[in-house]
Amino acid sequence: MKDKVHIILAIESSCDDTSAAIVKDGVVLSNITATQEVHRQYGGVVPELASRQHQINIVPVVDRALKVANLTKSDLTAIAFTRGPGLLGSLLVGVTFAKSLALSLNIPIIEVHHMQAHVLALFAEDPKPNFPFLCLTVSGGHTQIVLVEDFLDMEIIGTTIDDAAGEAFDKCGKMMGLPYPSGPEIDKLAKLGSNKYEFTEPNIEGHDFSFSGLKTSVLYFLQKRLKEDPAFIESNKNDLCASIQDRIVSILMNKFEKAALEFGIQELGIAGGVSANSALRQALKEKCEERAWNAYIPKMAYCTDNAGMIGVAAYYKAKAGEFTDQSIRPDPRLEW
Ligand code: KG4
Ligand code: ZN
Repeated sequence: MKDKVHIILAIESSCDDTSAAIVKDGVVLSNITATQEVHRQYGGVVPELASRQHQINIVPVVDRALKVANLTKSDLTAIAFTRGPGLLGSLLVGVTFAKSLALSLNIPIIEVHHMQAHVLALFAEDPKPNFPFLCLTVSGGHTQIVLVEDFLDMEIIGTTIDDAAGEAFDKCGKMMGLPYPSGPEIDKLAKLGSNKYEFTEPNIEGHDFSFSGLKTSVLYFLQKRLKEDPAFIESNKNDLCASIQDRIVSILMNKFEKAALEFGIQELGIAGGVSANSALRQALKEKCEERAWNAYIPKMAYCTDNAGMIGVAAYYKAKAGEFTDQSIRPDPRLEW
């Protein structure tokens, strides 16, 4: 008997991006994201504004995803959504929309864990990693080394004990007066500077990370230099960015390499918003070339929040028969 075809509409609304995708048997046919500019002026995501913006964006984004995929609502076999972790108000919009549309179309729903979806984004394109592999998932809210045994069988073996890697980029950027989110901006300016300033690398046991020490040392360093020269940040911005970025990347890569050696795994992937960082991408490539390991680096559209990854994760759940009951609610602190 032929396997059932799964045509899934996926919705991602965990933070400040409203995204919809159509995924047919694990292949992303469309992946449409509306980013929310409204938060920039506040230097961070304002939850209430985010949920209101999701309400405005969700219908046009879903319409567009269907149009680009050249399909209509009646072609859908299931609707997937991010259940958590994320902002409650933001999640509510996606979850409620998905449940209502699925009810009206009489098709099942599939809940997806946002961080697991970031990992499974590595299956959105070729080459795909072989099991077991390690994934360094680095975003605005999380920093994790994940041991992935199978599509739906993964375990966090290391995590941050304080700030996330993306948060380190964003907070250091804020200290330098860069717009939010500062990760992409630091990445851009770092290309014009050099790693001139030595910020400390923390000494944390096991596979866990820490970024709050770096944040504090950047703060004290800037305060001291600004006293001597009020234009210090302005005149050294590129070198500051290069130095901060290099330290964040070395903290991540040293731990990732150590985990790979300890677990004897030679398949290494990165995922999440910070995996868009050019220095991290380059560092993983070089490390894997040096050690003859395989590196899996998603294309940009699958790094930052997107519904494509939700649809890919949902496809593997649908294949395993893991559908969700209509009584489901969003969970801002969803565990796995
Ligand atoms: O995965 P994501 O889109 O949203 C969350 O789930 O958090 O990640 C957003 C984070 C932000 O902290 C942003 O500054 C960071 O990813 N980011 C980057 C780059 N692009 C996005 N950090 C460093 N370099 C980049 N190119
Ligand atoms: Zn994310």
